[in-house]
Amino acid sequence: MAKRLLVGISGASGAPLALGVLNTLRAAGVETHVVLTRGGSLTLRQECGIDTLEGLADVLYDNRDIGACPASGSFRTDGMLVVPCSMKTAAGIVSGYSDNLLLRAADVTLKEGRKLVLAPRETPFSPIHLRNLYELSRMGVSIVPPMLTYYQRPDSVEEMTHHMVGKLLDQFGIDTPGFCRWEGMA
Ligand SMILES: Cc1cc2nc3c(=O)[nH]c(=O)nc-3n(C[C@H](O)[C@H](O)[C@H](O)COP(=O)(O)O)c2cc1C
Repeated sequence: MAKRLLVGISGASGAPLALGVLNTLRAAGVETHVVLTRGGSLTLRQECGIDTLEGLADVLYDNRDIGACPASGSFRTDGMLVVPCSMKTAAGIVSGYSDNLLLRAADVTLKEGRKLVLAPRETPFSPIHLRNLYELSRMGVSIVPPMLTYYQRPDSVEEMTHHMVGKLLDQFGIDTPGFCRWEGMA
């Protein structure tokens, strides 16, 4: 059976990462079920100049639809990636305060013991952010912040973004074509 991933997109900076992830998953034949928050649509417009994810997701849900498939553990998935993950969404997940579909889907992913990966983005982090991320990591959530890397000698922001997409999808054992893996010092 093809892999099926939940992808949550919240209102932190990093919307191009979400687009990169969705494009790579599509090319890899992974079925995507996507929830976009209101903050996520604002950053998508600000950072990518687009208003819709139509055509990029297999299924796109309304974040207010807390009765949709990802709200139940009986809807089987191979895990969930939240990219980018705002501090508000991280706080909602750590506290189990599931008042929207993205938070409920993350809650379900945790309760079912499935893989949950967050790409939290804020700078600087406050003690509250750090405590929440630490607690999430202790619960088994993978915390994979989009941090800059230079060792692959990127020529552009797009290359840096692509590298981060590779790091995120590696968490699910999904290959990103062109992902530059470390092979020791040149
Ligand atoms: C352009 C823009 C950039 C933002 N960047 C961040 C960010 O990097 N990290 C963050 O935690 N919140 C950021 N925010 C604030 C969140 O969008 C806001 O807290 C929102 O309530 C998050 O809700 P959500 O998690 O449901 O999307 C940003 C907001 C805007 C409009």
